[in-house]
Amino acid sequence: MDDHLELPPPQYLGRRRQSSLDEIAAFADKISFKKEGELEETPDLKKKIPTRMGKGSYVRIGEDDEATTVIFCLPEKVGVLADALKIFQKHKVSMTHIESRQSQRYENDYEFMVEFCAGEQEGDCAGVIAEIKKQSTYFKIISRNYQDNEDAIPWFPVHIQELDNFANQILSYGDQLDCEHPGFTDEVYRKRRKYFADIAFNHRYGDEIPRVEYTKVEIATWSKIYTNLKNLFPTHACKEFNRVLPLLEQHCGYNEHNIPQLNEVSNYLKSTTGFQLRPVAGLLSSRDFLAGLAFRVFHSTQYIRHASRPLYTPEPDVCHELIGHVPLFADPAFAEFSQEIGLASLGASDEYVKKLATCYWFTIEFGLCREKNGEIRAFGAGLLSSFGELEYCLTDKPDKADFDPSVTGETEYPITEYQPKYYVTKSFEDAQRKMREFAQTIPKTFTARYCPYTSRIEQLDNKKLILKNMRQLRREMATLTEAMERIA
Ligand SMILES: [Fe+2]
Repeated sequence: MDDHLELPPPQYLGRRRQSSLDEIAAFADKISFKKEGELEETPDLKKKIPTRMGKGSYVRIGEDDEATTVIFCLPEKVGVLADALKIFQKHKVSMTHIESRQSQRYENDYEFMVEFCAGEQEGDCAGVIAEIKKQSTYFKIISRNYQDNEDAIPWFPVHIQELDNFANQILSYGDQLDCEHPGFTDEVYRKRRKYFADIAFNHRYGDEIPRVEYTKVEIATWSKIYTNLKNLFPTHACKEFNRVLPLLEQHCGYNEHNIPQLNEVSNYLKSTTGFQLRPVAGLLSSRDFLAGLAFRVFHSTQYIRHASRPLYTPEPDVCHELIGHVPLFADPAFAEFSQEIGLASLGASDEYVKKLATCYWFTIEFGLCREKNGEIRAFGAGLLSSFGELEYCLTDKPDKADFDPSVTGETEYPITEYQPKYYVTKSFEDAQRKMREFAQTIPKTFTARYCPYTSRIEQLDNKKLILKNMRQLRREMATLTEAMERIA
């Protein structure tokens, strides 16, 4: 069968850079209290060379399986930060990142967020945690190994920059292709794949995505796919997709003779819905991939499939991302729906992340929708970038059922053949409402909200923070009411 994409694989873990005690001490000298919401400096994360693992094919750059974030609140007194740092020094625990700000929970207190890697520490992490907890008015651990500690919740990035921490925890790197991959024996293709992997590997938050000169062979592959699919879109793609594609042709260089540049496309998305692309060298875990969506960040490949089989790819490639995914990220309702899945995944258990990843699969990858005239159309990227399955999905052969996250999230599916069953949404707004209702059933101690002003996830688990958001909403409602009164 043609045109299949794999679900992000089970978790592949890596390692984050560790700072030495001296570095932290030097860094601590630079720290001063800031106003609420302001970021502290982060130790410089030097670009690293990927490390290949012995027998496996995956890459590790850090110990993120041991990454631990401790958020704690200490009563205000002179030198409170120095005292907190001394606890880490006393127990010889190296930190990778530290932030401080006025507490969002308690008046006059200060809140600290400290990250460290529990692996390869000479120090006593348990000792640090016990001592900090004893002194804190608020204490929470966010850890990859959340099952081991009753104070811990599953690790997730709190600030958009933290996506750097897992962007390289991937299944395979560059030229490491499976023996069944169409490019397995093609040295030129493998070299090219490594070139793209290196771009992604060295990318950091805030960098421009490097411009790529695609070869004639690569453009010919794109051309074949783009031309074939474009013929089907008017009759098979949803109306939102068909509205956006001409805009991408107008503003981002989409056409059969040109592979658009990720940076230009990302900038366009930012200007429409705030979504942005981030290059990725391979497949991420479901948890990490979904976490990106919470920040309106989509991890995108930049390489193209092998020229020998233009209508087949065993993994996502730039055709799948740019043709399948990108157009709908420019649609406000779809963008909100996508972010909703991401937010629901933050701090959720592995069991619920699996359900959310399955909902992602049956919507963002393989979703169908019912148009106002009753016609069913495709909106999933796996369909919109697959000539064969785009035709097949609208026939009577596969089963179709209404999208319902609690049912959809538990549906089994194949990844190497066309889907036997598709889920149909009424609209992106309706899908988002259902996802939100489903998110409320996920056992968690907080509701996650993304603050676009600070690019930070807020954990709505205290009255002060919820009240701050309610006041902001009231201000926005006042603006809208005023606007409505003016035109009325
Ligand atoms: Fe995809």
